[in-house]
Amino acid sequence: MTVLLSGNAWVNPFLGALESAQIALGGVAHALGVTGESHGQPAWPWAKRLAVEILLIDAGVARQLALALAATGSALLLAITGLFWRRLRVVLFGAAVLAAWFAPWPDSSLWLADAVPTSFQTTPFTVAAVTHGAALYARNCAICHGDTGRGDGPRAASLVRWPPTVVGPLLGHRLDGEMFWRVMQGMQAHDGTQTMPGFAGRLTDADTWAILDYLKVLAAGGGVQDGDGWPVPVALPALDVRCGAAPAKPLADWRANQRLRAVAIDTGGPPREDPRWQTLLLFRDGALPSPSDAARWAANGDASCVAVTPGAWNAFAGMAGIDAQRFAGSQLIADRDGWLRAEAKPGDPAWANATLLCAAGGGRAERVAHTRTDPLTSLLLRIDAEPVRYVKGGYVH
Ligand code: HEC
Repeated sequence: MTVLLSGNAWVNPFLGALESAQIALGGVAHALGVTGESHGQPAWPWAKRLAVEILLIDAGVARQLALALAATGSALLLAITGLFWRRLRVVLFGAAVLAAWFAPWPDSSLWLADAVPTSFQTTPFTVAAVTHGAALYARNCAICHGDTGRGDGPRAASLVRWPPTVVGPLLGHRLDGEMFWRVMQGMQAHDGTQTMPGFAGRLTDADTWAILDYLKVLAAGGGVQDGDGWPVPVALPALDVRCGAAPAKPLADWRANQRLRAVAIDTGGPPREDPRWQTLLLFRDGALPSPSDAARWAANGDASCVAVTPGAWNAFAGMAGIDAQRFAGSQLIADRDGWLRAEAKPGDPAWANATLLCAAGGGRAERVAHTRTDPLTSLLLRIDAEPVRYVKGGYVH
């Protein structure tokens, strides 16, 4: 699933700090007017960026880079001290030169990667974008990438290069902003032949971001169907929630770091509200309950908060890897950090056979072990104990 850092506990914070420093540097360059915008967001001004994705895999290079940075930092410090401490100036300058000289910089190809102006751009993952992106994907991309994103569209075999499957680690290895750039500009082989057409003239920025959101749904759903769980962690998509008869509000405001259970309701009423989580009711488009019905549920102590953004049912069914027609009765659990983690199939209200789709420790879905507590509580405890540390495109999120 996700690239996890084990063993070298210092690597994660070190790379996190490098990442923050790099993004801050880009922000400063933008604030100073060194760089303008690209596609409506601040542009990354340089042709290179830190290849955190490589450093993550190779702790040896990360260590060498840390040493080189420390040596260079010491050289600077010594030189500055030398400016003020006249008596020791010669010694301090000498030490500074030595430290800078012997800083063990690894080969730059090991820690720098090609960047594009949109490298660090992202947009929020939303139900509205997934819905919009699904339609655009079918029209523009499926012919090569296939309806399910496995790279098996009708035109795939006739192309110079086979399109990659998104049902795997691809999206986890790429920065969103770099995929955005490639979809806009197209891709070329080393000899310059075009391998994928660019869509800059045909799709707006928002369209392209929406398709990238839909690719995340294809990746998640495909992983479940293959029995592998989610290849990359899936965040709760943004949507609007209406509780009882109150006005709708954004999911993030309503959830406020609580666990969430999403329940796909077809016929029948909502489940009881449960103190272990907040329940989000999903209804098919066109079948939303009226505010007065929901208010009555709330008065009975039943769950009464409904996802009102159109397309929510299909987006959640897609992520769960379940056909939207058969999604009724399914449940999904999100952890306090907003990552979707586990799924229970229809007819399994006790979560006895729940599937942990996003286990922090490894890639494969696991049956939740029965322990002495009820299966759902042990699942929740396990989810809490193993938070997702998502590393995307090498960047710790
Ligand atoms: C004419 C066939 C074709 C169409 C249409 C097409 N692609 Fe591709 N796509 C490819 C091929 C081939 C590759 C692999 C190119 C390579 O590696 O050089 C690719 C690669 C990609 C990648 C991987 C980029 C990376 O970072 O490795 C993404 C993401 C992608 N396509 C998204 C899309 C989206 C989104 C659309 C629709 C807007 C689309 N593609 C339309 C053929 C196509």
